[in-house]
Amino acid sequence: MDPVPWREAWHEALYAVSRGFYVTRGGPAAHFTTAAHGATGARLARALLALPDHPVRVVVDVGAGRGELATHLVDAMDPTSPGGTRTPQTTRVVAVDVVDRPAGLDRRVEWLRSPGGAGLPPELTGLSDALVIAHEWLDVVPCTVAEVDADGTAREVLVDPDTGAESLGAPLSGQDRQWADAHWPTTSPGDRIEVGRARDEAWTDLVSRVDSGTLVAVDYGHTATGRPAGGTLTAYANGQLTTPVPDGSCDLTAHVAVDTLDADVVRPQREALQALGLTGATPPHALAGADPLAYLAGLEHASTEAQLLHRDGFGGFWWAVKRVRGHDVT
Ligand SMILES: C[S@@+](CC[C@H](N)C(=O)[O-])C[C@H]1O[C@@H](n2cnc3c(N)ncnc32)[C@H](O)[C@@H]1O
Repeated sequence: MDPVPWREAWHEALYAVSRGFYVTRGGPAAHFTTAAHGATGARLARALLALPDHPVRVVVDVGAGRGELATHLVDAMDPTSPGGTRTPQTTRVVAVDVVDRPAGLDRRVEWLRSPGGAGLPPELTGLSDALVIAHEWLDVVPCTVAEVDADGTAREVLVDPDTGAESLGAPLSGQDRQWADAHWPTTSPGDRIEVGRARDEAWTDLVSRVDSGTLVAVDYGHTATGRPAGGTLTAYANGQLTTPVPDGSCDLTAHVAVDTLDADVVRPQREALQALGLTGATPPHALAGADPLAYLAGLEHASTEAQLLHRDGFGGFWWAVKRVRGHDVT
C-alpha cells in the first residue's frame, strides 16, 4: 500500500467502522488494564466526584471503554454503597465511546456513540453543572508524527498501513509546524515529534460543549521540560506491547503534551489525588488485634490508593483540569 501520514493511518486503524481496533475488537479492557478498572477504578471514581467545587448535575465519561468507570461513578453516587459520595442521586452519568451501548451495562448509565478520535457526537453539547472526565482518551486521538532528517528538518512520518514500514514525507508545515516550533523545537537528526495540535483541538472542542462545570483529562503525558526525544508511539494487543502497525490489529497510543492543553491546572495524578485526600497509608497495627476485618479492609484500601499514587505507575499520569464558569457564577 502507498504510505500515508501516521495521523490518517492511525485514525483508520482505530476508528474505521469496518475494521477499527476500538470498533471491532472488543473493549479496551479485553486488551489492557487501566486505573479505571476494578478497585482502583472505584477509588478513582470517588476522587473524581470530589473534584468539582460546584454542584454536579451530569457526569460525562468520554472514551468510556465499555462503561467501567461510569459504572464505578454511579456506584459511588449511591449513598448506600460503601464510601458512597454525597453527589445528588439525580445526577446523570453519560458514557461516550465508539460502539453501541454495551450489552449488560448498568441501566443507570446513559450511553452515547461517538465517531472516535478527535470527533465527538453532536448530541454532546450545552452541558451545565457538568463534570466531564476523559480518562485515557487524548492518547488515542491520532496526531501528526514527525522526524528530524539528517539535515535537521522535521518531516512528516509516513507509514505503510499494511506493514508499519515508515518513510519521511514533506517538511512539517502550517499549523503543525507552528505547534512544533512553539512546543517541541528540535533539529537533532532522528528526533521524533508527536505534534500535539490534534489533542489540543479535540480537548478545546470538548471544553466548548460545556456551559458550566469542570473537565478533567487524565493521561500519560509530558511537558516542555521533558519531551521524549524518540517519541512515544506504541502499540498494544492482547495485553502485550507490539510493533505499531496501523492495520486495525492493535491499539495505537502516544503520550499527550499536557501543558499545551487549555487547562487551569496541570499536575501529576499523585499530587491531584493527594490534594483530594488519598494517602495510601496503612491502618495502625493495633487495629489488627481489635478488629481484624477492619484491619484487612484498611490494608486493601491502602494498597488501592498506593497503586493510584505510585510515581512510576498510575501516579505518574497527568491531570489537566479546566473549570468553565457559567454566566450566573461569580
Ligand atoms: C485507552 S482506552 C481508555 C478506556 C477507559 N477510559 C479506561 O481508561 O479504561 C480509549 C477509549 O477511548 C475511546 N475513544 C476514542 N476516541 C473517542 C471519541 N472521540 N469519543 C469517545 N470515545 C473515544 C476508544 O474507543 C477507547 O475505548
